[in-house]
Amino acid sequence: MCGIVAYIGHREAYPVILKGLKRLEYRGYDSSGVALLNEGLKVYKRKGKVAELEESLIGKDVHSASGIGHTRWATHGEPSDRNAHPHISANGRLAMIHNGIIENYNQLKHELINKGYKFTSDTDTEVLLKFIEDIQVNNKVGLEEAVRIALKRVVGAYVIVLIDQDNPDTLIAARKGSPLVIGIGKGEHFLASDASPIIEYTKEVVYVNDYELAIIKPEELVLKNLGNEKITPFIQKLDLELAKIEKGGFDHFMLKEIFEQPQTIFDCLRGRMDAREGYIRMAGVDKNIEQLKNAGRFIIIACGTSWHAALIAEYIIEELCRIPVEVEYASEFRYRNPIVNKGDVIFAVSQSGETADTLVAIERAKENGAFVFGIVNVVGSSIARISHAGAYTHAGPEIGVASTKAFTAQLAILTMIALKIAKEKGTIDQKRFMHLLSELHEIPDKVKTLLESNDSIKKLATKYKDANNALYLGRGYNFPVALEGALKLKEISYIHAEGYPAAEMKHGPIALVDENLPVVIVATKDSYHEKIVSNIQEIKARKGKVIAVITSGDKVITGLADDVIEVPEADELVAPMLSTIPLQLLAYHVGVAKGSDVDKPRNLAKSVTVE
Ligand code: F6R
Repeated sequence: MCGIVAYIGHREAYPVILKGLKRLEYRGYDSSGVALLNEGLKVYKRKGKVAELEESLIGKDVHSASGIGHTRWATHGEPSDRNAHPHISANGRLAMIHNGIIENYNQLKHELINKGYKFTSDTDTEVLLKFIEDIQVNNKVGLEEAVRIALKRVVGAYVIVLIDQDNPDTLIAARKGSPLVIGIGKGEHFLASDASPIIEYTKEVVYVNDYELAIIKPEELVLKNLGNEKITPFIQKLDLELAKIEKGGFDHFMLKEIFEQPQTIFDCLRGRMDAREGYIRMAGVDKNIEQLKNAGRFIIIACGTSWHAALIAEYIIEELCRIPVEVEYASEFRYRNPIVNKGDVIFAVSQSGETADTLVAIERAKENGAFVFGIVNVVGSSIARISHAGAYTHAGPEIGVASTKAFTAQLAILTMIALKIAKEKGTIDQKRFMHLLSELHEIPDKVKTLLESNDSIKKLATKYKDANNALYLGRGYNFPVALEGALKLKEISYIHAEGYPAAEMKHGPIALVDENLPVVIVATKDSYHEKIVSNIQEIKARKGKVIAVITSGDKVITGLADDVIEVPEADELVAPMLSTIPLQLLAYHVGVAKGSDVDKPRNLAKSVTVE
């Protein structure tokens, strides 16, 4: 987690860094700080969000042509002023920001304590900085060399950026396992955890790779490996607009992102399928189609919301392709010595492309000889780069911490992949193939229609906002939708919610049902419809409050439920892309009604780059 920003060049560094930190707050927001160089090193840092840091710096001297900034998500040490970054070396000469975890920090700390070093924070970052300082002083080497030597002993993940008051025209940065992008301007360089703080100034960027060290001056960028060999930086041109990462008139990023879904799903499908001509073309799939269609098994690894998309994909792929699918939490897969056979294909699903557990799970799968196909939203992210092949979801930057538009884009892409494999394998007939293509094609317009229910969902939110618990139920393709709805409510409103397959209710959760329990039932018209109607009756018989997501015009459930939210009719295979959206809106409005900071809910971060 954590967001880092740095600047060196001809502008005032502080405004560039401050704006960048605000864009990166989705990566963590429990404390923040900056180190600026102007006739000596000035370090300002404090507990709380970036806006609090900004306020505390009004009237302070922030003049500087180079600086580093950090917004933190605590791993080692509670959120506090002293644990906030940047950290300062014992001699006061160096300041450093860090994103990641130094696993062997304890051992290094003991060595340094034995040498007389004192620590002013509980962080692993301060340990690494003082370790670098110690090497620099004792080995009488420059900062670049000291960093290189230190990193060879470090176990863990990091992006670090150092600033040195005795060498004000140089920043030193290095990466392993956490993201680092360098923007290249005229006589200036920008560093950040992702491209969002950079695109306002330049579209030319370099994604730094693991085990690379960058020496950055206003006019020059030198990349080296840890063996001190120069590497030619690979400069890419970004295709990202600033407007796409701002709120655009919505109160919150989350609401903006929910409302973007007609466009993001369209963007995901665009150019990849044609419902009239009847084809799906996806470069990463087409190139590897033999491997994919002959797979003995698919294993989908993911976390959180992406894991819910994977569960829906399991149902879709098994139905269409007749290939067994297993869905694994990346955090379990990486530690449990799973069986991966030759011929198994791993799908890794991730919005950020930086989730630490998913990254390591991919490494494990690759060590076992598996072919890894990444399904990722953030272009150039680590998962995109370590996968053998992949497809981007093209949902655009997702800033709200609770994932919304990335989820529906994941579903769109996974459905297209399943359809393509099924077509090539011959497990789907032409009629069904064409029907599902046309169903997919219609989704963006149907999403537009269902978003018109926003105001009525807001009213429902007011009605149910004081509940202490909620149960979410669904069957078949809509069971993972229920899990996702419950997760959204928990994250945004802090109301405890559980998702269950509706039929499992009788095996325990039904004991919770009484007149105070809202039960959200995802009951669109599908092959399970009659069964779920019975489940609703069982809840009503126990006086539970039923809020049902139904297909427009479903009179049966309208007659039974306390409240209904209608979504347009769709084939059950693509229906989750619709039925999820009212649950996103419900969670959003409950969160707002309860006064939560919905874009930055407590304890969470957008990019979980620690295990
Ligand atoms: C929930 C949410 C998280 C992420 C999870 C995986 O709203 O956003 O559960 O889905 O942390 O993140 P990615 O998809 O970036 O790997």
